[in-house]
This record gives sequence, structure tokens and C-alpha cells, in this order.
Amino acid sequence: MKLTQSQILGTGSYAPSRILTNADLEKLIDTSDDWIVTRTGIRERRIAADGEATSDMAVEAAKKALDMAGTRPDELDMIIVGTISPDMQMPSCAVFVQAKLGATRAFAFDISAACAGSLYGLSIADQFIRSGQAKRVLVIGAELLSRVVDWTDRSSCVLFGDAAGALVVGPSSDPRRGMMSAHLHSDGAAAHILSIPGGGSKYPQSEEVLAKKMHKVAMSGREIYKFALQVLPEAVHEALAAHGLKPGAIDHVISHQANIRIVESVLDRLAIPREKCWFNIDRYGNTSSASLPISLDEANRAGRLKPGDLSMMMAIGGGMAWGSALMRW
Ligand code: ACO
Repeated sequence: MKLTQSQILGTGSYAPSRILTNADLEKLIDTSDDWIVTRTGIRERRIAADGEATSDMAVEAAKKALDMAGTRPDELDMIIVGTISPDMQMPSCAVFVQAKLGATRAFAFDISAACAGSLYGLSIADQFIRSGQAKRVLVIGAELLSRVVDWTDRSSCVLFGDAAGALVVGPSSDPRRGMMSAHLHSDGAAAHILSIPGGGSKYPQSEEVLAKKMHKVAMSGREIYKFALQVLPEAVHEALAAHGLKPGAIDHVISHQANIRIVESVLDRLAIPREKCWFNIDRYGNTSSASLPISLDEANRAGRLKPGDLSMMMAIGGGMAWGSALMRW
């Protein structure tokens, strides 16, 4: 059987119109614009409207990606949504997206890999396309984190924002272009450093869970920082080594926007010029699984990615879950 690598045929993104600036946060909690900008690079983030659900944002991003790809919703074979903030615990966010788009032929499911969710999704899409089982896959990262953060915890609430990004993936028409490989990793021994402990089977919803805010994001910022700086450079080297390449070959870095200091430190350790990376954390904050497809969409629509350019993608999130992928645009 001939294997055909996949290619990204369309990109799209969506962010709610309501902007919450650092100055707005100064009125809510004991923080400062200077602290947030210096430690994270974030200046503002978007907040979803009342009544707006994760799937609504996902659909807006998906429509733009489908439009660019020239793909009708009923041509989709699969819909994958990476999210930790789905509309409901069951069913998946992806089936709501399917219904709202009218993607009647597609099967749909969510991935729980936190900020690495869309990278995991892209890798799964690539495998289904390489094996010939799918021709058109919609990969989405969508997060409505403003409803799962503790707005009284200044060490975490300043970081996150709401948004969605989408990619339409299909077989590559040119063997020199498309996904080259993805390299995914997990370490459940580090699960405790980033979690939403309450509301699942271990700590079901209860008055105690609500009182202790266990249904909100719990984060050890320093632990995450150290973990990311160790594993992300390794993951990038792994992807390069798989193709006999060196960091100097990379034209673009499309990264999960966790924190500007994490991304810049990883680039510095790899001796990759910071200008090669697309940054938007100043405008959106950390949008978890949405941040990688949003960055790809913005870089693409800005005309930054030229045919044949080598792009390195990298992401890390709760789990811990992380990885890298190499792609020729
Ligand atoms: N405003 C003002 N002061 C604050 C704030 C805030 N929003 N948050 C914490 N502080 C204070 C702390 O209370 C502490 O004060 P103290 O020294 O009097 O005790 C001081 O600032 C330093 O706190 P640290 O937590 O040690 O600050 P640090 O330099 O580690 O920065 C940060 C915190 C930004 C969270 C950092 O650890 C980090 O970026 N970690 C990565 C976390 C991350 O990216 N999470 C995103 C989700 S995971 C992902 O996407 C991979």
C-alpha cells in the first residue's frame, strides 16, 4: 500500500471580542501589568461571551479553515478536538462541532492532552491519512479557560485566555511537502503539577470540591517551567535527528504559547533565532490547545510560510504531555 503523507490544507482561528487587559486584572486581584508582562509576556487575553461554549468558538475557527481548504463540512471524514474545557463532560466537544457544522459523514472525538492536544490531534490525523483511512480531517484546539480558572488565584488566572484554532488536513499532493513526523511523549508521574482535580471519578462534584475550588486549574508554575525547559529542547532534537537535520535548518518555529520566557529559553538553548518563532502570547495569553493552530493560522495568513519551508512545531501541557512535529509547508 502506498503511504501518502498529510498536508495542512487550511487554517483558521477565532478569539472572542471581549478583551481583558492586565490593567483590568489589576482591579480584580493583587497584581501588576509589570509583573505579568515581565514574567509571562502577556498583555491581554480574550474572554468568551456569556452563553458562548467551547464548541461555538471551535466552529468559528473551523469555518475559516474549511473555507481556506475549499472543503465542505460533509466532505470531512474525522473531527478531532483537543480540549480540557469541553462544553460538557459527556458527550465530546467534537460531536457538537460536527452537528453545528453539518459534517454528517465525520466521526468525532476529543483528545485530553491539555496544551499538547492539537499536536496530538495533528499526529493522529496524519496517521489516518497516511494509512488511507481518511482524506479530510478537521483538527481543532479550543479552550474556554476563563470558566475553569480560579479568578482569586493570581499565580494562575493571569495566564490563560479563551480561543480556538483549526486545521484542515488532507493527503499531500506534493511528496516534498507536508508532515514529516511527529514525536509525542507523556509522563503521568508529573500529573500533579498541572491538573483540575475535582469533578471526575476520583473527586466527584460535591460541596467540598466546590468549597476547596478543586474544580479549578491547580498549577505548580515553577515545576512546569523546569519540566518544559528540559523536555522541549529534547523533543525538537528528536524530530530533527529523525531526518538527519540540525537546528539551523529550521525556517519557522510554531510553538504552544505557554509563557514567553519558556519559549524564548527553549529557542536560546537550541540556538534558534527568536525571530523564527511566531509569538502572540501578548495578545491572547496561554490558550492551551488552541495556541498552536492559532499561531499556525496567523503565520500562514501573514504570508510567513513559503512552500517547502521547514516548520518545527512544539507543545507541552498537563499530563505532562508534550511533543514536536516537523513539517514542510
Ligand atoms: N502578580 C503579582 N505577584 C505574583 C503573581 C501575580 N499574578 N503571581 C505570583 N506572584 C508572586 C508570588 O506570590 C511570589 O511572591 P513571594 O515571593 O512574595 O512569595 C512571587 O510573585 C514569585 O512567585 P513565583 O511563583 O515564584 O514566580 P515565578 O517567577 O515562578 O513565575 C510563573 C510564576 C509566571 C507562573 C512561572 O512559574 C511560569 O511561567 N511557570 C510556567 C507556568 C505555565 O506556563 N503555566 C501555563 C500552563 S502549563 C503550559 O502551558 C505548559
